[in-house]
Amino acid sequence: MREHQPVMVKQVLEYLNPQEGGMYIDATCGSGHHARAILEHTDGKAKIICIDKDPRAILRAKKYLKQFSDSVIFVNDGFENIEQIVKRINAERISGILFDLGFSSEQISDSEAGFGFRQDGMLDMRFNPESPVSAYDVVNSYPEYEIKRILFEYGEMKDAEKIAHLICEERKKRPIRTTRQLADLIASCRKKRGNIHPATQVFQAIRIYVNNELENLKSGLNGALKVLMPGGRIVVISYHSLEDRIVKKFMKSSNKLRMLFKKVIVPDQMEKVINPCARSAKMRVAEVIN
Ligand SMILES: C[S@@+](CC[C@H](N)C(=O)[O-])C[C@H]1O[C@@H](n2cnc3c(N)ncnc32)[C@H](O)[C@@H]1O
Repeated sequence: MREHQPVMVKQVLEYLNPQEGGMYIDATCGSGHHARAILEHTDGKAKIICIDKDPRAILRAKKYLKQFSDSVIFVNDGFENIEQIVKRINAERISGILFDLGFSSEQISDSEAGFGFRQDGMLDMRFNPESPVSAYDVVNSYPEYEIKRILFEYGEMKDAEKIAHLICEERKKRPIRTTRQLADLIASCRKKRGNIHPATQVFQAIRIYVNNELENLKSGLNGALKVLMPGGRIVVISYHSLEDRIVKKFMKSSNKLRMLFKKVIVPDQMEKVINPCARSAKMRVAEVIN
């Protein structure tokens, strides 16, 4: 399994500004790389609530953060439930919340999770393996018009109609069971753009749909605002223009928040070269007004 390289760690520490004695939430802890950076920065003297929807990620984070176990509370849940999570564990005075959206390198290289096509695996793409609809269901049983809508809305694909039709013709012959099968099918009729595989947008669109990512982001941000103390900060790293639009609109339109920067923060050139995950990253930061 490929190890995830966390994105914009320096900027996360600078803008989240974690302090000893503070209480923080990593709303998308993944394997725990950002959480670990926060704990190291505060000599393990901050507390951090590590949330992830994927139980496999929580297991990896527990291992990775073992030496800080007294400072971490792990929660296997969705950040859209952040308010209930904070109430449930009786947490108070939250000073900062980090959202690092999307998926991790561990998830995309885990063939059982069925997110990626570099390793073949059963089509799945659910962060929560118990949620009701998987990528397999979408591709093999959704009507053509619905697949077209998903590709158009979440992948912003101009050829959504053509690709939806292709998928529906193929599944008449045999079910599209694996990630490689779907990727090869898309590659047979779509051109590669630069270094980007022709199936990337299709996979991204289906993943966003299957995990209800855009609606969950809106709920997560609203919940974050309710649990943060005055002066507390929200730091969001997004990887998709649709996500960034939601974050920007939310931060700009709330009269309880002050954006620290009008412009989006992006990784420096060196980070983009070293860490492919960072290439499309965009960070926004806001502070709860006192
Ligand atoms: C980019 S990774 C985070 C990597 C992490 N910052 C690190 O340093 O290891 C995004 C994580 O968010 C999780 N995730 C996605 N949607 C979520 C949601 N609604 N609630 C909680 N976790 C979610 C994914 O399972 C994934 O582990």
